[in-house]
Amino acid sequence: MVIRHPSPDPAPLVIAVDGPAASGKGTIAKALARHYGLPHMDTGKLYRACGLAVRLAGHDPYDAEAAAAAARAIDARLLDDPDLMSSLNSDYASIVSSHPAVRAALLETQQTFARQPGGAVLDGRDIGTVIAPDATAKLFVTAAPEVRAQRRYNELAGRGVDQTLADVLADIAARDARDSGRSAAPLVQAGDAALLDTSNLSIAAAVAAAIDLVEKARARRGR
Ligand code: DC
Repeated sequence: MVIRHPSPDPAPLVIAVDGPAASGKGTIAKALARHYGLPHMDTGKLYRACGLAVRLAGHDPYDAEAAAAAARAIDARLLDDPDLMSSLNSDYASIVSSHPAVRAALLETQQTFARQPGGAVLDGRDIGTVIAPDATAKLFVTAAPEVRAQRRYNELAGRGVDQTLADVLADIAARDARDSGRSAAPLVQAGDAALLDTSNLSIAAAVAAAIDLVEKARARRGR
């Protein structure tokens, strides 16, 4: 007699997408989520909501206590605030994200999302290194600073925001330096992450390359 054991549930597909500002990581993460039918979390929005809360309360973003208090009580309505993605708020988000207590306050929400039984796609700065170190596939998406600045400039111009390309490039360089130079969970490529440079790629080509890298990682890990 052959006794059949039910086959175990397949391991969930968890995809970590990290990279600097305007690298294309958000667009790629959303496309991967659509392609694999997975939920997606843009973790930068959590830090942006924290930065916005600090701003609205008139606090200094370098005040770690005030920032941590804001991170522990994120108001979900701020996630849809039109000011969330502004350049000023990008700076606030980058500054508050350097406080270890802010990162600690936002850890559980992100890890709970990453550990959903069906899998998930998350994009940010420390997904592959801190939030989901066991992710099935890890991508580190980047592009030359000038290319990233041009993309952000086009996006801002499209929204009627008046900023010079030089100012946008300076903002991006400052944010890169802060996000990579902080001691708490800095932006670094995880040792087992695949590098995807989107400098010379269209969106369609970058998404196709990302899917290819995820498939290779799945094949390597047998999931
Ligand atoms: O991805 P974004 O540009 O919207 O993120 C805004 C800021 O939030 C970014 O400058 C650094 C911070 N951030 C972070 O420290 N860790 C993450 N996982 C996501 C964002």
